[in-house]
Amino acid sequence: MSENKATINLAGKSVEMPILDGTIGPSVVDIGKLLSQTGVFTFDPGFLSTASCESKITYIDGDEGILLHRGYPIEQLAENGDFLETCYLLLHGELPTAAEKADFDYRITRHTMIHEQMAIFYRGFRRDAHPMAVVCGVVGALSAFYHDSTDINDPYQRMVASMRLIAKMPTIAAMAYKYNVGQPFVYPKNDLDYASNFLNMCFAVPCEEYKVNPILARALDRIFILHADHEQNASTSTVRLAGSTGANPFACIAAGVAALWGPAHGGANEICLRMLEEIGTVDRIPEFIARAKDKNDPFRLMGFGHRVYKNYDPRAKIMQKTCHEVLSELGIKDDPLLDVAMELERIALSDEYFIERKLYPNVDFYSGITLKAMGFPLTMFTVLFAVARTVGWISQWQEMIEDPNQKIGRPRQLYTGPGSRDFIPISKR
Ligand code: CMC
Repeated sequence: MSENKATINLAGKSVEMPILDGTIGPSVVDIGKLLSQTGVFTFDPGFLSTASCESKITYIDGDEGILLHRGYPIEQLAENGDFLETCYLLLHGELPTAAEKADFDYRITRHTMIHEQMAIFYRGFRRDAHPMAVVCGVVGALSAFYHDSTDINDPYQRMVASMRLIAKMPTIAAMAYKYNVGQPFVYPKNDLDYASNFLNMCFAVPCEEYKVNPILARALDRIFILHADHEQNASTSTVRLAGSTGANPFACIAAGVAALWGPAHGGANEICLRMLEEIGTVDRIPEFIARAKDKNDPFRLMGFGHRVYKNYDPRAKIMQKTCHEVLSELGIKDDPLLDVAMELERIALSDEYFIERKLYPNVDFYSGITLKAMGFPLTMFTVLFAVARTVGWISQWQEMIEDPNQKIGRPRQLYTGPGSRDFIPISKR
């Protein structure tokens, strides 16, 4: 903690608030005692200037386009490690040794099956339901099947719940896809790595051999790494808020899945691809750029802009490279969607409106093209995001439970409704 203090002058009263320093990044003014000392709240809709917690997991420098997990740059994690290594790092704080990694992989692999009765649960959904709706429901239902890992005060149960969630999310997601397309569920296979197993559960059918393409598996693994955590974004904050009440981890992660679904957050990858399809050809780009700039048109260029990044999203750079690798592996030379995306990016990056507002492509800009080329339907894009983000959610949840300063999250408000007034009987209204 620094010795610095912020002095706040309010209605002739002067109070001092401590300034706390992080390892890197902006310092914060601790205003916890502001209400008791001055009688006022702060007002910050959308948390534009508010840190909601202390965390040691992920750091973002939005101006420089830097993303670190436990200090390690995302580029190095995506280039050199696999997704489960990043999971271990997020959960435990350090990269695993070879023995720790082997043990972690073994445990995750052996938790991938879900209770057989959950398969019946799927049949209660309409086949044409959006897979995010199904995943949201099934993840919430996990607490009805795994009672022995819902005691949040037991560190062992917390870790079992974390492992179960990381391991079972791909199975739950793949089953949502299979149910949607009317194919039989495919059970997990323990001789496959995390990403290959997911591809197999999605695309294998009982009537023929399915061989996982290692280039596509590596690309998917990288997509999972890129989406693993992103500090206090909307869905993670939702998980923390739900968790602050003492709710069980499965219920909290279901809340996170629901928050992720929105088009301003994880739902952007699906909507971004729909937008690229709607634009269709390069010559229609100016029309859509004009709409994005028009204040009377609610249209936004999906896959552009970020609350924190005011520079190129570092994940988008890696995603763009992965996208090219996947298209080349699949022999897709001229993808009209990729042409539209690249030209859109070029025009937007040289347009005054986007430069002024520091609107750069974000991770969702290229992920949709990549996932579509791999064979995933658009409705599965956000589900894949949820599979990857589960480790971030559960790591942040664990950190919150272990925080001695943790309190129930309870924001206050600026009330602007009517003042106190007397009830009027219905006959007199
Ligand atoms: N297209 C056109 N204009 C935009 C866009 C966009 N995509 N994003 C922001 N703006 C404009 C906005 O109209 C505003 O202009 P002005 O100052 O003239 O009123 C200015 O830029 C600032 O926007 P804001 O809405 O105050 O910024 P925010 O930090 O609240 O919103 C955002 C961040 C991600 C919700 C927003 O940029 C957006 O809606 N982007 C499209 C959706 C998207 O791609 N989301 C995925 C985010 S990355 C994946 C994830 O982490 O979930």
